[in-house]
Amino acid sequence: MIPRILLGTASIPNNGGELRLTQHEDDFSIHLKGVRGELMNSRKHCSELALAELGCAHIQGVEKTRVLVGGLGMGFTLAATLKATAISSQVVVAELVPEVIEWNKGPLGECAGRPLDDTRVQVHPGDVAELFKVKSVKPGQVKTKQATYDAVLLDVDNGPEGFTSADNNNLYSIESLQAIRQTLHPGGVLAIWSAWHDPKFTRQLKKTGFKVEIKTVRAHKGKGSRHTIYLATK
Ligand SMILES: C[S@@+](CC[C@H](N)C(=O)[O-])C[C@H]1O[C@@H](n2cnc3c(N)ncnc32)[C@H](O)[C@@H]1O
Repeated sequence: MIPRILLGTASIPNNGGELRLTQHEDDFSIHLKGVRGELMNSRKHCSELALAELGCAHIQGVEKTRVLVGGLGMGFTLAATLKATAISSQVVVAELVPEVIEWNKGPLGECAGRPLDDTRVQVHPGDVAELFKVKSVKPGQVKTKQATYDAVLLDVDNGPEGFTSADNNNLYSIESLQAIRQTLHPGGVLAIWSAWHDPKFTRQLKKTGFKVEIKTVRAHKGKGSRHTIYLATK
């Protein structure tokens, strides 16, 4: 039997625990140490591709778009975003764990065809939530964030609740969804990957003012687990 090899470990910022990168034959896995489970496996990545394909369908063939990808992982969503958008487009990828960025510069990067090497990619090393924060304003002024993105694609947890880090819970709150909505151009799409469908979260997106569609996609070439993509349009 070929053993699983530990390739690297990383501390998740803010006491989020330990992230581990392992390899078994040709498959890579990024998982949380202990019983908390797997974040990403290179063998099953069809729904991660679908996140980008569905989330960028409205900007197919449109020049000079700007897309934010939250969570680099193994780079599948990033690579699919580059494929789904025009050559004049820009893609920002935010990744909380610095080692994940380093791992993608090594052999792990081969999984998705080394999307970090694409000159259209700009890496934000840090929490994706930082990109939605409104800078402090004078008292009495209304806080608004400038519309910057045509699509925001989020796959940082296993669903709309903190998994990688407890801090991520805030990302799915009404306040945060409102801030994300402000960063989108009119007609822009927020797409969120989830291992399950939570009707309460759909209602939360609608309450924020989004038009919501739910798509179900399979994990692996039309087979395997059913995953949910929330498509929320401004
Ligand atoms: C499930 S993986 C993403 C998989 C990715 N879609 C792919 O195609 O490989 C989640 C990634 O999000 C990162 N992450 C978790 N919380 C984050 C946050 N708040 N901001 C940015 N990245 C985050 C994790 O470190 C991990 O690399």
